[in-house]
Amino acid sequence: MNTAPNPVRYADFYRQSIEHPDAFWAEQAKLIDWHTPPQQILDTSRLPFVRWFAGGTTNLCHNAVDRHLATRAAQPALIAVSTETGSEKTYTYAELHAHVQRAAAVLQALGVTRGDRVLIYMPMIAEAIFAMLACVRIGAIHCVVFGGFASSSLASRIEDAQPKVIISTDAGSRGRRVIPYKPLLDEAIHLSVYKPSAVVLHDRGLVPMELVAGRDHIASTLEAQQQNTQVPCVWLDATEPSYVLYTSGTTGKPKGVQRDTGGYAVALAASMKHIYDCHAGETMFTASDIGWVVGHSYIVYAPLLAGAATVVYEGLPTQGLDGKTNGAIWWSLVEKYKVSIVFTAPTAIRVLKQQDPALLKKHDLSSLRMLFLAGEPLDEPTARWISEGLGVPIIDNYWQTETGWPIIAMANGVERMPSKFGSPGLPAYGYKVKILHEVTGEELTAPNEKGVVVFEGPTPPGFMQTVWRNDERFIYSYWRSFPDRMVYSTFDWGIRDADGYFYILGRSDDVINIAGHRLGTREIEESIAGHPGVAEVAVVGVEDPLKGQVAVGFAIPKDSAAIDDSEVAKKLENEVMHRVAEQIGALARPSRVHFVAALPKTRSGKLLRRAIQAICEHRDPGDLTTIDDVSSLQAIREMMKS
Ligand code: PRX
Repeated sequence: MNTAPNPVRYADFYRQSIEHPDAFWAEQAKLIDWHTPPQQILDTSRLPFVRWFAGGTTNLCHNAVDRHLATRAAQPALIAVSTETGSEKTYTYAELHAHVQRAAAVLQALGVTRGDRVLIYMPMIAEAIFAMLACVRIGAIHCVVFGGFASSSLASRIEDAQPKVIISTDAGSRGRRVIPYKPLLDEAIHLSVYKPSAVVLHDRGLVPMELVAGRDHIASTLEAQQQNTQVPCVWLDATEPSYVLYTSGTTGKPKGVQRDTGGYAVALAASMKHIYDCHAGETMFTASDIGWVVGHSYIVYAPLLAGAATVVYEGLPTQGLDGKTNGAIWWSLVEKYKVSIVFTAPTAIRVLKQQDPALLKKHDLSSLRMLFLAGEPLDEPTARWISEGLGVPIIDNYWQTETGWPIIAMANGVERMPSKFGSPGLPAYGYKVKILHEVTGEELTAPNEKGVVVFEGPTPPGFMQTVWRNDERFIYSYWRSFPDRMVYSTFDWGIRDADGYFYILGRSDDVINIAGHRLGTREIEESIAGHPGVAEVAVVGVEDPLKGQVAVGFAIPKDSAAIDDSEVAKKLENEVMHRVAEQIGALARPSRVHFVAALPKTRSGKLLRRAIQAICEHRDPGDLTTIDDVSSLQAIREMMKS
């Protein structure tokens, strides 16, 4: 919060970031430690690729951990809470430093050096964060894969990232149901053409593991050999990669979003000050997962860069430490750890909304200043319910894996300004956000005109550098949506009102968002189409009151009995759903798979997913002049009615 006698106006702050990015970001760069200062703040010689702070050397782990030892060694850094195993443990900055150093020594002993990839497939436990920090400490590039992904998804990421080492565990747990990770990992390594040279396993004692001789190692055994090994931070150029995080796009193959080191550190440190308003000595509780970008940025790096403590939470939002239902668990943690900022996805709040509202008043929430929500559209009733229940401002913020930090938000740390329900607010400093007509690419400047949300380069610090080992894909996936315009497309629909506030209206491409989890419909389609009983399939995201969206499939069976006979259909549907859960992960399992004789397509054979989605949501499917066979859509409409 800005308490200076002459408060900065956000409009001026924003203008400075756009008109004088060098000066603006040189100032923000002072928020982190540099081993050698940047030689050039912004290099735009190869747009749309941008290099921030080139020539400067720094280290993310130094800034997140070592830097704080002089002033806050005994203060909490990481608070690991698991309602799955009923455990709670606080690590001070000094303890965090010791654990990270040991984990880094293990990686070094396995031959990992600067630029090597290390894949992390872990649940929300402290060891996962030690592993991430250990990687960036020695200049290795981490690739964290969400623990909810199953073997095929994991295999495609192993193949693309080619990690020297994989760090994993015996099992995760959800709702106190143990989910073995090791068999999924073994299967993924089997499926992948590329093989890692070593696998390090943290044994939680949840389920027995079979080790592959010569490849698999138990972490504690390796760590025991590195008790007092000193591993200094490797000073990296600001433009060297820190991590690759895979995200879904419109093809079946996930994109490796590559992030730099210096730009990311500066962007996150600045966002903690200007947007999240969370500072050294405070506690931030981000209920997300390290497998997603919100986890990378606001569970791991940003709170630690700021010198705050971060809560790492494994479990459901409605489960107590004793495993019993407890809809107030999060608020009990806020009270206990004096949390000032909570950050989660709207879906979690919709889950809590099904509980007794009195639970929101059960604990002392006087430390809590703001609740941040991101990852999917925030509906107004949910925002109002939680805002009134907690009595703190709700800050919607809109961004993507690609950007690493908010594109649109209220920068309350710069100037306190009113939020509007349903809107994440104004463009964040550094982003030249525009709304363009979907087809013509013309800028829509009149209030409330719907178009695609884009922004112009040069992109701000923290924004992805490229698609891992695929510069071409970076350009054609993101920068070629509009003829003659070099703009980054978010692929989200949006409008801007007369006051300049943006409203995000969902994706314009084939990406869906299930409970705040971003998934590609094509990945799910590929899995379903691999079933021997399925000839062709379309998957669409359909509005859902709890999860935001769910996946619904429409498949043409090879045997028409699945259309005519409900018993046959049920059996095939179950098999297909099981296949998706087994290959991609339970979160991608369609809520329904319907069997149809034909799928609506254009005359050139393009699937009309948007028309199917509109029918499922009881909306007008729009212009159908390009459709080849209207009866296929008609049949789906009839099916939806019944
Ligand atoms: O469709 C938008 C939606 O989530 C997408 C990005 O997902 P992901 O890469 O997983 O990054 C999430 C980072 C918070 C966006 O393209 N989305 C994200 N935040 C919002 C949102 N939709 C509406 N409102 C938001 N606040």
